[in-house]
Amino acid sequence: MKDACAALSVSGLDVVLEGARVLRNLTFQVPSGKTIGLAGHNGAGKTTTLRALMGVVRSRGEIHLDGNAIDKMGPAERARRGIGYAPEDRRLIVALNVVENLRLPAEIRAFSAAEIERRLQAVLELLPELKALERRPAGLLSGGQQKMAALGRALMVGDRLLLLDEPFQGLAPALARRYAEALRTLRLQRPELAILITESNPSLLAPLAAQVYTIERGEIRAPTQV
Ligand SMILES: Nc1ncnc2c1ncn2[C@@H]1O[C@H](COP(=O)(O)OP(=O)(O)OP(=O)(O)O)[C@@H](O)[C@H]1O
Ligand SMILES: [Mg+2]
Repeated sequence: MKDACAALSVSGLDVVLEGARVLRNLTFQVPSGKTIGLAGHNGAGKTTTLRALMGVVRSRGEIHLDGNAIDKMGPAERARRGIGYAPEDRRLIVALNVVENLRLPAEIRAFSAAEIERRLQAVLELLPELKALERRPAGLLSGGQQKMAALGRALMVGDRLLLLDEPFQGLAPALARRYAEALRTLRLQRPELAILITESNPSLLAPLAAQVYTIERGEIRAPTQV
């Protein structure tokens, strides 16, 4: 068992991509019920960190979720353990409408139809702007609307941990405020949920995160209390 109160515990995480060591010995925790930030400049390794946590790139080192090792598992198994991932580039299926995109990971997890509907309604209540876009093909959404849809999709399966990669990047100010407000509401609705958010601009994380780690050239600096 790793640190009992950490939903996510990462120790000595290394990633090598095309011969280059992109992440070096990353060690950090995301406690249950906390929002933790990961700030860093372009190319620092934020996306690679989340991809390694989700299992879509190969990594070395230990990753524990609620005390159980997940580092040997593939992405689908990690999703089944309750990790929801909103990638930086959204990765929505453009030909499917918003609701179909939201339902997809829950269908892959083989939840019952009633459970999928319950989750969908909870997400649409938290993110009412998606309700107005329900039947619109994802390919016709603006970049900011796609970020919202990617958050909603992550929430459909992310019962334990949400990984949000630069959610505020490219969002118009009004939509960024709404996104932050939704995260605050979520914090109240789901007090046990652990959230890891990356950002290149750490000031955007300050109002949301209990702690912000800084990543530089693939290495983590000491966390700052905010
Ligand atoms: N598939 C890949 N092959 C080789 N190198 C890669 C690959 N993907 C990323 N890198 C390199 O890894 C480093 C970290 O990239 P990463 O995308 O994780 O950074 P980031 O912090 O998310 O940057 P950004 O703020 O631009 O999104 C960069 O030097 C990048 O060039
Ligand atoms: Mg990135």
